[in-house]
Amino acid sequence: MTPPSRLLVRDLDQLVTHRGAGAPLRGPALSDVELIGDAFALCEDGRVAAVGPMRELPAIPGDLEELDGRGRCAIPGLVDCHTHAAFAGDRVAEFSLRAAGAGYEELHAAGGGILATVRATRAAGAKGLADAVHRHRGWMLRAGTTTFEAKSGYGLDRDTELASLRAIRDAGGSPTRLGAHAVPPEFDDADAYLDFALAEVLPDAAKLAEAADVFVERGAFDAQRARRYLAACRDAGLALRLHGDQFSEAGAIPLAIELGARSVDHLEATTEAGVRALAGSDVVGVLLPASALFLGRPMPPARALVDAGAAVALATDFNPGSAFCESLPLVCALACTQLKLSPPEALGACTVNAAHVLGRADRKGRIAQGYDADFTLLDVPDWRYVAYHLGGDLGIEPIIAGRRALT
Ligand code: NIG
Ligand code: FE
Repeated sequence: MTPPSRLLVRDLDQLVTHRGAGAPLRGPALSDVELIGDAFALCEDGRVAAVGPMRELPAIPGDLEELDGRGRCAIPGLVDCHTHAAFAGDRVAEFSLRAAGAGYEELHAAGGGILATVRATRAAGAKGLADAVHRHRGWMLRAGTTTFEAKSGYGLDRDTELASLRAIRDAGGSPTRLGAHAVPPEFDDADAYLDFALAEVLPDAAKLAEAADVFVERGAFDAQRARRYLAACRDAGLALRLHGDQFSEAGAIPLAIELGARSVDHLEATTEAGVRALAGSDVVGVLLPASALFLGRPMPPARALVDAGAAVALATDFNPGSAFCESLPLVCALACTQLKLSPPEALGACTVNAAHVLGRADRKGRIAQGYDADFTLLDVPDWRYVAYHLGGDLGIEPIIAGRRALT
C-alpha cells in the first residue's frame, strides 16, 4: 500500500484566509480575514489537515515532505471563475488597430473580433485546441491560479464546441458552454442559430459542461433570446451564467435574477438600479477589470456593489480579444487601484466568492481544515504584495491538492 501523501508547509511569514463559510461573502465579511504569523499548514491526502501558528504544530510521526515557508506568505489557491481559455490563434493585429483608434464593437461588426477567433479555433482541430488550452492552463498556474473555469464559444459549430469543452475538462478546468457568444457566419439569423445550438449541440454539451453562458448585448443576443437559450440549458441540468452590461444595459441583471443564475459578469455599464437589484439577489456579480482596462472602458461599480451588499467575484476574462491577461494578481492590483476595493476584499473576491460561482465553495477558496490543500505561495514579506506589486514578480509557487504543482 502506498503511504498517504503528506506535506507540511512550515515557518510561513504569513498565512491568510477568509473567515466564515457557507454563503458568498458580502459587505464587511468580504474584508474579514484571519492572518496567522509564523504559520504552518499540514496537508494529508490532498486536504488541509491542520493550520495554525508554528507554536501549535503537533508532533507528526511518519513520512512527511516539508516545504520551507521562511520569507514566504500563503494565500488560498486563486480561483479564476471567468476565462475564455479555449481559443487558438491571437488578435495581435486587431490589438494594433485598436491602439490606432479602431473600436472593439466596430471590429466585431465588420466580421473580426470574436468571429476572427472562431475561424482560428475551428481551423486548429481538436488536438490543436487541446494543446492551446494546456498552454493557457500553464500560464494561469504560473500566475497562481489553482482552479479555473473556461468557456467554449469560439467553436459555435458542434465539433469545435464539444472539443473545446473536452479540452477544458481534460486540462482540469470547470467547463462552461458559451453557446450563445456570437451568431456564426453559416447562419444569417440568431434564432436559426439558437435552434441549431439547442437541438444539435446542447444534449452532448450538457454531458461535458457544468454551466451555460450567453453574451447579452446589442450586436450579440437580446434578453428574449438569452432567456430561451438559458431556460433550455437549465432544463438540461446546467448552472447559468451571463455576460451582461459590458457595453449597454440590455436586461441581463433582471434576467439573471429571474432565472436564478449563478452570476452575471462584466457590469461596466451597470447603473444604480442594477446595483440595487443585484444587491437584493443571490446572483454574484463577476467583475473583470482587466477587460475594462484592455478595452479602455469604464470600470464596473465595484465599490457601490460591495457597499450595497452585493456578492462580487473577480476574474481575468482571459481571452485573445478583450483581455489577453491570465493574471489574477494583476486583477487584484486593478481591483485595489481602479475599483477601490481593499486587498482583503480583492482576495475574497477571487477565492471564496469565485469558488461559489463555480459551485466549489465547500472545497476551494479557503485554507481551512477539510478544504482542498490548494495554496498560492508568494515569495514576499506581506501577502498584500499580491495586489501591491503591479505586474511584478511575486515568486509564485502553486500547491494543488497538497502537491507542488510546478515541479
Ligand atoms: O468577455 N464579451 C464577450 N466575450 C468576451 C470577449 C471575447 C473576445 O473578444 O474574443 C468578453 O469580453
Ligand atoms: Fe468573458
